[in-house]
Amino acid sequence: MTKVLVIGACGQLGFELTLALRKLHGSENVIASDIRKGQEELMNDSFEVLDAMNKMDIIHLVKKHNITQIYHLAAVLSAKGEKNPGFAWDLNMGSLSNVLEVAKEYQLDKIYWPSSIAVFGPNTPQNNTPQNCIMDPNTVYGITKQAGERWCEYYFNKYGVDVRSLRYPGLIGYKTMPGGGTTDYAVDIYYKALQERKFECFLSANTALPMMYMDDAVKATIDLMQADASNIKIHSSYNISAISFTPEQISTSIKKYIPDFEISYKPDFRQNIADSWPNSIDDSKARNDWGWYHQYDLDKMTEEILKGLKEMLSIEENQ
Ligand code: SER
Repeated sequence: MTKVLVIGACGQLGFELTLALRKLHGSENVIASDIRKGQEELMNDSFEVLDAMNKMDIIHLVKKHNITQIYHLAAVLSAKGEKNPGFAWDLNMGSLSNVLEVAKEYQLDKIYWPSSIAVFGPNTPQNNTPQNCIMDPNTVYGITKQAGERWCEYYFNKYGVDVRSLRYPGLIGYKTMPGGGTTDYAVDIYYKALQERKFECFLSANTALPMMYMDDAVKATIDLMQADASNIKIHSSYNISAISFTPEQISTSIKKYIPDFEISYKPDFRQNIADSWPNSIDDSKARNDWGWYHQYDLDKMTEEILKGLKEMLSIEENQ
């Protein structure tokens, strides 16, 4: 019997992943948790307030609900992390340590923990970045993800904890806003395109970054967690990719649907972060080991987001 605890369920990924997991395992078998209450759709079913910095509270929920799997999604992202690096280190590393210890002590079946393209740095090959290469992250977020990958692999090798992970590119969805990432412009741009017909971008026109539509990210996560353990060859974190584009290219894609849309550029401190990350990622290991493939290209994503967002915003306007 699978019983899942999602930590960070109210976040950008957590919200959509929790709903997908509830479809897969049944609502009563997926406990959503976050530091505070969030979206009503999550509150309708099992929800717990949880501070992942408190190991005893995680243990309490594992026992209370007979949890067999944890998806640990809570983290401070790249741009926000730079504002308070000490806190980002404590939260990202402390909560992961707690989850891995609980998995070891209570012999949980599986753990999911996301890594990121932020593990790469200025000396990493920027195009088609391989799984194994120089990794010299220079943001606190990237450093915690890099250390976290080593920590996950260590728990697998030393204690047999079945922890699985993906190095997500920028995730783009419209249902829940992201908080504090460098790739967040690619979410905000769709809101501004519909509401104001113009957008000022904090990255320069030709900054290419690896990105992925949320539906693909949810699919990748569930595919990885459903894969037979014998097919999982990497226990640090898998490179994973879908699309790569620049602010100029996403703006061209939006103009196909909103011809009078205008973009302007005013790079800030996030430009340096973006410049240290890859332009595109080689994810052949994920494709070979457990059959990963993506479904959304840039235009298909733009079409779906603009359609969904229009409906969502007009619903809000009518309320
Ligand atoms: N989307 C994240 C960020 O920008 C990268 O993993 O921080």
